[in-house]
Amino acid sequence: MANRAAFLETEKGEFTVRDTEIGQPGDGEILIKVHAAAIQPADAKVAKMAVMKMEYPTTLGSPVAGTVEAIGTRTTGKVSIGDRVVCGTKIFVHKKAKYGGLQRYCVVDESEIVEIGTTPFPLAVTLASYTPPGALFGSSTLNLHRPSLPPSPLPPSEQGKKILIWGGSSAMGALSISYAKAAGYTVISTCSAHNIPLLQSLGADHVLDHSAADTVQRVRGLLPIAYWFDTVSLKPSISSILNILAPEGGEVIKAHVLLLLPLVMAGVKEEEFPEGVTAGMLRFSTHAEENREWNRWLLAKGGFLERGIKSGAIRGVPPTVVGGLERVGEGIEMVHKGVSGTKVVVEPWA
Ligand SMILES: NC(=O)c1ccc[n+]([C@@H]2O[C@H](COP(=O)([O-])OP(=O)(O)OC[C@H]3O[C@@H](n4cnc5c(N)ncnc54)[C@H](OP(=O)(O)O)[C@@H]3O)[C@@H](O)[C@H]2O)c1
Repeated sequence: MANRAAFLETEKGEFTVRDTEIGQPGDGEILIKVHAAAIQPADAKVAKMAVMKMEYPTTLGSPVAGTVEAIGTRTTGKVSIGDRVVCGTKIFVHKKAKYGGLQRYCVVDESEIVEIGTTPFPLAVTLASYTPPGALFGSSTLNLHRPSLPPSPLPPSEQGKKILIWGGSSAMGALSISYAKAAGYTVISTCSAHNIPLLQSLGADHVLDHSAADTVQRVRGLLPIAYWFDTVSLKPSISSILNILAPEGGEVIKAHVLLLLPLVMAGVKEEEFPEGVTAGMLRFSTHAEENREWNRWLLAKGGFLERGIKSGAIRGVPPTVVGGLERVGEGIEMVHKGVSGTKVVVEPWA
């Protein structure tokens, strides 16, 4: 039994596919035989722009879906050998190559692993991001009412409330729509015209073309909006939201806009915001003490993510499977150039 991985050999270098040792799972860790691994924008930013310091050679990719191959020490019995699972990877935390997803065997944290039943592996990796449920339901983030399965009605104080999810065809936006709808909120979202049917299929109530001239005005027609989430977080999306909140010569609507990138990356300055409008990047750790209860709700055995994936209640963008490890470089290029309404996925055994 040997491992095989797509290594990024040097900073901003090329990917090389070669045999390597299988990582051993340590305390609280699980070894997964990886059947599908996603490439996320952060992987492309690290590979192409070196936005984060890494130890080279490194591997990238998250989440991974596959079967449990080995169980480390000090684990809790959450999963057994052979279980079909999905999990976010820890390559950006631990920096060691055994933690990246773009290889045949990957070491993950038991605490974040989730069983997927019969869900196809490439589909599972499109569903397992902890960012949307962290952004929506963390007590220090937007703090929306959490969904349950079977669904239950919103409490009276939340009933009828609307959320704007700008960029609903992004991987994060699509999952956010799905979670917000599962909780019972009214969702307003934006995307390109060709992705409107995708967002409608996820249950979004109002779907608008983000490049149409009347979109800002149409969103204003849907006010009041209780929650504001920009899953794109670049200059055009932030500008559009500011135009909704602070129309020229009109009254400013007080709001906080949750972003997924720092304002500086969008080239927007805080001083450009009118009084009463704030924006800030999501800061969320699945393991922070304040998120203990959130963690149990989402990631426990039989928790919301497991049941949401198995039942089909949680949906996102469809996967685009590019092929095996030899296609990692191509997949990184695709994500770097920008994808539309899909997640790029690699199958390490193909
Ligand atoms: N802070 C965190 O913890 C965290 C976690 C995850 C991701 N992120 C960041 O969040 C961002 C989104 O990640 P992702 O994986 O969801 O990205 P993605 O799926 O690669 O995003 C691509 C989508 O962005 C949409 N888009 C681009 N410009 C738009 C605009 N002006 N208005 C509306 N939609 C627009 C496109 O929509 P159309 O093709 O329909 O136009 C496309 O579907 C990335 O920058 C990522 O690095 C941050």
